[in-house]
Amino acid sequence: MNSAFDQIEFLLNDELVVLKDVNPNTTVLSYLRDSAGKIGTKEGCASGDCGACTVVLAEPNGNKLRYSTINSCIAIIPAVNGKQVLTIEALKSDNRLHKVQTAMVENHGSQCGFCTPGFVMSLFALKKNALEKSEKGEESISANMEEIEEALSGNLCRCTGYRSIVDAAKQSLESDEKDQFQRIESETIQRLRDIDGDHQTFSPKKIEKLADLLLAYPKATMLAGGTDLGLLITQNLVQFDVVIYLGKVKGLQILEVAEDQINIGASVSYTQSHSVIKNEYPDWGRMMTRLGSLQIRNLGTIGGNIGNASPIADMPPVLIALNASITLQLGKQEREIPVEDYYIDYKVTCQQESEFIRTIHIPRSNPDYELKIYKISKRFDDDISAVLGVFNVKLVDGVVNDVSIAFGGMAAIPKRAVNSELALKGQPWNQETIDKAKLALGTDYSPLSDMRASADYRMTVAQNLLQKCYLELSQPDLNVNVLSFEAKAVDRDA
Ligand SMILES: Cc1cc2nc3c(=O)[nH]c(=O)nc-3n(C[C@H](O)[C@H](O)[C@H](O)COP(=O)(O)OP(=O)(O)OC[C@H]3O[C@@H](n4cnc5c(N)ncnc54)[C@H](O)[C@@H]3O)c2cc1C
Ligand code: FES
Ligand code: FES
Repeated sequence: MNSAFDQIEFLLNDELVVLKDVNPNTTVLSYLRDSAGKIGTKEGCASGDCGACTVVLAEPNGNKLRYSTINSCIAIIPAVNGKQVLTIEALKSDNRLHKVQTAMVENHGSQCGFCTPGFVMSLFALKKNALEKSEKGEESISANMEEIEEALSGNLCRCTGYRSIVDAAKQSLESDEKDQFQRIESETIQRLRDIDGDHQTFSPKKIEKLADLLLAYPKATMLAGGTDLGLLITQNLVQFDVVIYLGKVKGLQILEVAEDQINIGASVSYTQSHSVIKNEYPDWGRMMTRLGSLQIRNLGTIGGNIGNASPIADMPPVLIALNASITLQLGKQEREIPVEDYYIDYKVTCQQESEFIRTIHIPRSNPDYELKIYKISKRFDDDISAVLGVFNVKLVDGVVNDVSIAFGGMAAIPKRAVNSELALKGQPWNQETIDKAKLALGTDYSPLSDMRASADYRMTVAQNLLQKCYLELSQPDLNVNVLSFEAKAVDRDA
């Protein structure tokens, strides 16, 4: 096989690792356990769901290191190029447990212990990031419950129950004593900068280089966060011949709020883009915290969500309802198209060979419009949507002046509800109009039945979401807790 990724360099704990001619289909977990002998990191599900395989990546961010958790089971080895991978083995130092480990022991946060290394690594990243915020004077070292829940949302434990682990999280955040990593932070940053050279042909840094590589290897697989691709390797046993990692391409990392639009580079992670999106569109920001777990959001990107072209992806319906667009680039040629036009059929897009998504453009929020986003999944956190409905509505004097509606999970592609929109536009915002628009949804979509939901359920829920949107906009004080998941979202906001 042509494993076209000439060299990967990273720090594994404090050791420099140089892998030559590495097979880019190797997962970080299999490298750690099978080649590096780091067997503290466990494999539970091999699909990014349980968090047993959680490791922490450290990357320079100015003069500090930024720590983020990832699922090593679905992260592919090119994704750690130029970074530090921290495993559970690195935490103990001078024969003393790290503060987060001590807190787990003292709070009885472990029973069979299988999930424990993953939990400890999530607590470790939480503590490191809380410490950094407190150093910047943003807040005290203590994280609030929401931050603790978010940090642990991607870790499952079958034995202990979560209270003792949450108690361990709280205890571990009580001390701001320096750990071994802080003591050598500048040295680590310098080591990472030294290895982050430009010689990795398939980890380009410049957008021109990426465009050239894609022309030279038109069948290459573009790797952003790998949270979809990794699953293809571990679950479908797919092997990619040529992999081009996008995470180092500077031109794909822009995140800017311009006068009339927000521009997000295709390799910006959810964790990064969330900071901007939550301020502009609070409903969308809340929904993003339900996309996968923190580990998934630390790696996954909106570009990958679009490029994967799944009909149940969470971002496309929002982008379609907001009339967002993307810039695609092929060689030196760029073209901007509405996100809606990207999708043609199930997993078929208008993206040509050697073309890539460069930037996502999202219109700034408009106070005349109300945006409502409803994600329906079996589990509140870390679950794929059965249906995701987005309504962007402009009412003037009780009449629908403008509306766009898009759904995920209702067709082979993320799709606009054109007939339902027509039934609403120019009509009074009342129950009669809504009933007609609900009927029109039946002509917009013919959903499928699958393990997530039946076709009937999907249609009923889509119509009920339109009803919910109507009630919420008509009576803003009314708490429409018709769906338990949404009720929880409301509770969290309170
Ligand atoms: C446990 C788990 C939970 C998840 N939960 C959710 C969820 O709740 N909601 C949801 O929507 N998704 C979910 N996902 C799916 C996945 O996390 C998202 O689709 C994510 O946005 C993919 O981004 P990525 O950067 O990891 O993409 P990658 O895996 O790197 O790439 C995905 C696809 O996009 C292509 N691609 C990447 N970048 C570009 C580009 N710039 N131009 C063209 N093509 C490109 C790749 O070649 C590949 O085909 C989940 C996945 C896991 C494992
Ligand atoms: S082994 Fe379960 S998330 Fe990786
Ligand atoms: S302690 Fe057994 S799975 Fe968590």
